[in-house]
Parts: sequence; structure tokens; C-alpha cells
Amino acid sequence: MTGTTVRVPAKVNLQLAVGPVRDDGYHDLLSVFHAVSLFDEVTALPADGLRVTCAAAPSAQVAIDQVPLDDGNLAARAARLLAARLGVAPHVALHISKAIPVAGGMAGGSADAAAALVACAELWDARLERADLLDLGADLGSDVPFSLFGGTAVGVGRGERLTAVPAAGTFHWVFATADGGLSTPAVYAECDRLRAALGERPAVPAASDALLAALAAGDARALGTALSNDLQPAALMLRPALRRTLDAGTAAGALGALVSGSGPTCAFLAESDGHAAELAAVLVQAGVARAAVRATGDVPGAEVVRTAPQTVGRTTLP
Ligand code: C5P
Repeated sequence: MTGTTVRVPAKVNLQLAVGPVRDDGYHDLLSVFHAVSLFDEVTALPADGLRVTCAAAPSAQVAIDQVPLDDGNLAARAARLLAARLGVAPHVALHISKAIPVAGGMAGGSADAAAALVACAELWDARLERADLLDLGADLGSDVPFSLFGGTAVGVGRGERLTAVPAAGTFHWVFATADGGLSTPAVYAECDRLRAALGERPAVPAASDALLAALAAGDARALGTALSNDLQPAALMLRPALRRTLDAGTAAGALGALVSGSGPTCAFLAESDGHAAELAAVLVQAGVARAAVRATGDVPGAEVVRTAPQTVGRTTLP
């Protein structure tokens, strides 16, 4: 094999506070992003054109037929953007090995874009500063910078302006996936519609002190109580069955339960790995999840995990 493979995590929003709509149509928001150990891998190989292929990662139950393989693929757009920036032809074969739910509210497409940026930068020998990579990511989508950043971070603006947040210890999660995705713009639009119908005027969003304290202390019980997502009412309106999923996890003793981002994946915080295994089994047996996968957080952002023999020396030797 000649190429570079980059591993990139999914995210869950521990807090997603959605503010007013801006002039550019985006919402001012405050997001506490948390990277979890559910990974896609993107491999970049030399090619005579731009090609994208995708397959499910071993034992992952993901709807890869929903992943566009044309210019609509965010990883392909990332390769084109980086090539234009470097002044090279966008010639690369990108292969995505997918474990992150598609259109699931866990930033799977953004993760692939972030991984493609890192993999192509390696392949094309681009010496980019981290800040340049984050800027390119922000041009591709609001969640792409965090997929590069990883860990736990507060995002403001569209969610692309990031500051790392200290998170002690390891948190144990279960993610209940659903059949079919939800469109992020549709969920934001439903959020606006619900707010208008209720006469709610969204405030400028702020971080929850209780949430930040729980993270700093590594206190899973306090974190479970502090989780919040302003998009959840909209996701539940568009997909009412998710209420049963959330209730089943709560009844089974989850420390916290919420829709992940714009959904429809639901996230459950567990006390331990063993508790996460029990929760996952209950959710599947109750028939309220397509699949239930365990993951821990936080984990690092996009990183090179394998390189071609001819580039190994440059990337891994001192
Ligand atoms: O930036 P990205 O392309 O990932 O955003 C997808 C959609 O989510 C946007 O088109 C917009 O409808 C919505 N969005 C928003 N405000 C944000 C981020 C995303 O309205 N801050």
C-alpha cells in the first residue's frame, strides 16, 4: 500500500445552546463538543483523478448507501479545497472506512472531511500550520474544526471557534442509532419554527458552569444531570419515536440521556464500561435502537495512524 490512513472520532455535544439566527443564516451557538472513541478511517492513495469509495468498518452497522460518492462528499470537497490552496491537482483516491452513523448527529461527514484534510496534507507534503488546517476545516463545515481538534472543547460562533476544556478521567457512553438519518438544516429550521410558535426569543448562548465543573472533576453523575441540547425538542418533533429511546435508557439507569446534535442518534452516559454494556443490551432488547454502540471519551482528534513505507521515515522517525 502507498498512502496515508487517518483515524478520526465522532462527537457528541454535551451542551448545545442555540442562539438567534445570524444574517448569514447560521445560528449563533455555544457547543461543548466531546470526541468519543467511535472512529472512521480515511485512506488517501495517489491516483490520476479524484475518487471516493466507502465501506462499513468491520462489525459496524452503518448505512453506507447514504454516503454520497460524488462531489457532495465532504471528504472529496476537503481534498479539492486543500489542492486549490496548495496549487496542485486534486488527484487522490480516498477510501472511507465508516463506523460513525451516517446523518446521525455525530459529525460523521465532518469527521471524514477533517481526516481527508490531514491525509491529503500528508500525501501532498503540505507543511500547514494547525491554524491553517482549522481555517480550511471551518470553510467546509461548522463541525470540521472540532473533528481536527478532538478532546473536549467549547465552540462558539457557528461552532467553529474552539477553546479546549479540561475533562478529567474517562466517560463511558452508549449511542443508540436509528433507522434513517435526520437533515441538520431541517432540524435547525424546526427549532426556529417551534420557537416562533411558542413566542420564544433565544438568548445569546452561554456555557453551563455545572457542566464545566463536572467535566473538570470527572464527575459522571453531575455530568449526566448537566447535559442539554436545544435541538432536542425539534429532533423529537421530527422523529417522535426517539422519546421512547431516551425513556428506555433513563429507565435502565443512564446517568444522562439526550439526542446527539441534530439526531437521530441518542447518547446515554453510563457509570462504567460494565454499566454501558448493560444499557446497550437493554436498548436493543427493548427494540428502541437499530444498534447500540459503546464508546469512551474524550479521545484525540484526527491523527495519522498508518503511512506508506516511503513516507514513514519523514513522519515517524526522529
Ligand atoms: O456548517 P454545516 O454545513 O455543517 O451546517 C449544516 C447546516 O446546519 C447549515 O446549513 C445550517 O442549516 C445549520 N447550522 C446552523 N447554525 C450553525 C451550524 C449549522 O443553522 N451554527
